[in-house]
Amino acid sequence: MSIRIGGIAPNFDVETTKGPINFHQWIGDSWVFFFSHPADFTPVCTTEMGRTAQLSNDFAKRNVKSIGLSTDTVAEHEKWIIDVDNTQNTVLTFPIIADPDLKVAKLYEMIHPEESATQAVRSVFIIDPNKKIRLTLTYPMNVGRNFDEILRVIDALQLADAKSIATPADWKPGDDVIIPPSIDNEAAKDLFPQGWNEIRPYLRTTKV
Ligand code: BEZ
Repeated sequence: MSIRIGGIAPNFDVETTKGPINFHQWIGDSWVFFFSHPADFTPVCTTEMGRTAQLSNDFAKRNVKSIGLSTDTVAEHEKWIIDVDNTQNTVLTFPIIADPDLKVAKLYEMIHPEESATQAVRSVFIIDPNKKIRLTLTYPMNVGRNFDEILRVIDALQLADAKSIATPADWKPGDDVIIPPSIDNEAAKDLFPQGWNEIRPYLRTTKV
């Protein structure tokens, strides 16, 4: 099965540091930041776990639940979380999936055999409350993720859903947005009564 934007995130049952979960039931009505990392007790992963925990209020504000995965066991995760809390000055409360048999990692194509046959690369899946995959990102093992970008893209996806807009390069909350070409000027008058700037017929910007 291919993991593609617009597809339903594959469901699974698995053990986590917060007990067994059924992924779709656990998602409930939330958005999800689902991310994998190569291994417990490794430096880059420790900073990423810590950053996710530090940003827990920022994720919660956006109705996003975080869930991590590595191909280690619950017992290993639990020992590592103590280190993450101590070294990153945080309290990690989100679940980490235990995947020693690579069941979920393979289902989500997190194992890239040219990198490692047993450890996951740094995958990111943003999943919406309809369980649809809305974004995928893949980082190599030696590059930590940019969490400003993860929050930014969640903001962009949620604004796009709420306001029928698209966002330009390097968009940040508060910046002008784009009226998608699928909305003609007649429909745009209803959706964007504030008006817009027509730079080209296909390039219209507005404020929301
Ligand atoms: C790390 O988290 O530091 C790491 C893990 C696997 C390969 C390279 C770096």
